[in-house]
Amino acid sequence: MPAPDRYMPGYTPRIVSFMTRRSADSHAAFFQPHLHPGLRLLDCGCGPGTITRGLAAQVAPGEVVGVDLEASQLALAKNEPSHPANLRYVQSGVYELPFAVDYFDAAFAHALFEHIAEPVRAAREIHRVLKPGGVAGLCSPDWDAFIFTPLNAELEAATKLFRRLQEAQGGNTTAGRRLGQWLVEAGFRDVKLSARYECLEDLTVMGDFLYDRLERAPKQDDVFGRGWTDATSLAQMLKAIRTWEKRPDELFALAWVQAVARK
Ligand SMILES: C[S@@+](CC[C@H](N)C(=O)[O-])C[C@H]1O[C@@H](n2cnc3c(N)ncnc32)[C@H](O)[C@@H]1O
Repeated sequence: MPAPDRYMPGYTPRIVSFMTRRSADSHAAFFQPHLHPGLRLLDCGCGPGTITRGLAAQVAPGEVVGVDLEASQLALAKNEPSHPANLRYVQSGVYELPFAVDYFDAAFAHALFEHIAEPVRAAREIHRVLKPGGVAGLCSPDWDAFIFTPLNAELEAATKLFRRLQEAQGGNTTAGRRLGQWLVEAGFRDVKLSARYECLEDLTVMGDFLYDRLERAPKQDDVFGRGWTDATSLAQMLKAIRTWEKRPDELFALAWVQAVARK
């Protein structure tokens, strides 16, 4: 039985800054053609709201609601000076959205479904709050399709450990390729899938993200006690991350799968 949902990477400054680089133009371009002014839109797992704000600008004066489990993320989102008037935030889990049936015209979830233990239940709940004919846009990564160089043993071990932590928490690191199936199971129709690579120009962004999470793993996840790694191997992984992120000739490309579907 997986642990109850919580966001596995956590909310340290380095993890959050990985998210705040995102905007609607950079990470929701696949969904933007389905939006127009006046639509009522929901963003599930909105985090610090950097994507939500751009979507809100696009559908203004339509009402936009960002929901997230985590109060600290909503506080960040609300404190942003460029907060549009048509946008509000509500603290809620995705399984029980505090909205009436058929309330929204559009629903979006970026980088959420890979972290939750019951993706079909979440998709059903999104389906419930969408109007008939309403549009959903989901986007999640698929670690089996990531490209990173060099493929040295320490970096590979680091990404394997990260994935193991996510899966142990009930997440799915190949969520991207499963989005379509989950949407169909939840009752959506006209599912259209696409994919893109995000090549990080600055590898320290990924380096910091991985380093920060793995450094906390012995205390937070008892990875030594569970036999998932030992102190020497973890030290080698952390050192390898720091060496890797400084090299000018290396690549980290995240594979994102994007799904658009109708109620
Ligand atoms: C990777 S962040 C994505 C944030 C934002 N959508 C983005 O792409 O930049 C995932 C967010 O989902 C939230 N989250 C995790 N599980 C959730 C759940 N069951 N219901 C609502 N939000 C959840 C986390 O608190 C976190 O802020």
